Amino acid sequence: MKAQAITFYDAHPGKVSLRDEVIEGLSRQPRAIPPKFFYDERGSELFDRICDQPEYYQTRTEMAILRRSVHELVEHIGQECVLVELGSGASRKVRLLLETLKPSGYVGVDISREFLLSSTEALARDYPWLEVHAACVDFSHGLEIPHCDDKIHKVAFFPGSSIGNFEPDDVQRLLTDIAAMIGEGGHLLIGVDLKKPVDILNAAYNDSAGVTAGFNLNLLERIRSELDGDLDPRTFEHYAFYNPIAGRIEMHLMSKLHQQVRIEDRSFVFERGEGIHTENSYKYTVREFADLAARAGFRQQQVWMDDDALFSVQLLEYRSNER
Ligand code: AVI
Repeated sequence: MKAQAITFYDAHPGKVSLRDEVIEGLSRQPRAIPPKFFYDERGSELFDRICDQPEYYQTRTEMAILRRSVHELVEHIGQECVLVELGSGASRKVRLLLETLKPSGYVGVDISREFLLSSTEALARDYPWLEVHAACVDFSHGLEIPHCDDKIHKVAFFPGSSIGNFEPDDVQRLLTDIAAMIGEGGHLLIGVDLKKPVDILNAAYNDSAGVTAGFNLNLLERIRSELDGDLDPRTFEHYAFYNPIAGRIEMHLMSKLHQQVRIEDRSFVFERGEGIHTENSYKYTVREFADLAARAGFRQQQVWMDDDALFSVQLLEYRSNER
């Protein structure tokens, strides 16, 4: 069977400006740079390596849950659906669903055009019976997806607990956008990392091989090489910890000494121990996430977890009258 041609929709997501956001982020207190800037080529490679670290339980646990629950999932969803994967990236996890779920269509949604095209082309090649679409969209700023017949049952797939990198107010906005995209009775299959003993969480973001540290510090390397920056990444250190009050892992880059850093014509003084906040990764209990989702009209239909309750894969159904 010959692969079908993929349809490509480009919303031309606005180019984010590393320069403007870094200068703005370093000019305020506390200093912060958004985590989206981690993912240049080197950062994406490092993230893939994080997923293979023994301490980073999330990826392998979610994959095992998906493998185990796919047949039950089909019972809930039924036949005939279109699967819309958000932040499709390398589309590794969706492959665990396709053979059993047999959707009539797949829409990969990602902000990174090249990555999106290569991964959807590979899916079209490997699953010649599947109608494959690619949508280059920054879904943190709204979800505008074509190719979707209103009558067909839609299932949004958002794995990896990437939802944890959104602030709770932004989660509300994103879930509302997903609800509008899948429509009445549509489903959201989402990976949500769970609250757990602090030592497991701290280890996951401080792996002994130092890959997460390298991933965090690569942000400074990127600023140094892509902007006209005079800073030495070796004078900063990775600092990640679980903040139990906020219910999130926080990642920071801490200055090891008193120093002045220059980016283009701007200088920033760092005291020793002064940091830049680079990422939050929120962890939820099943109940907390149910409450958050309910505010956007979603009902938890089924929650699958591993035996140690480290990670959850949740099937949510949207009903507008449940808001
Ligand atoms: C992509 N995201 C879900 C990862 C997380 O666990 O929050 C990013 C990450 N940061 C450090 N390690 C992994």
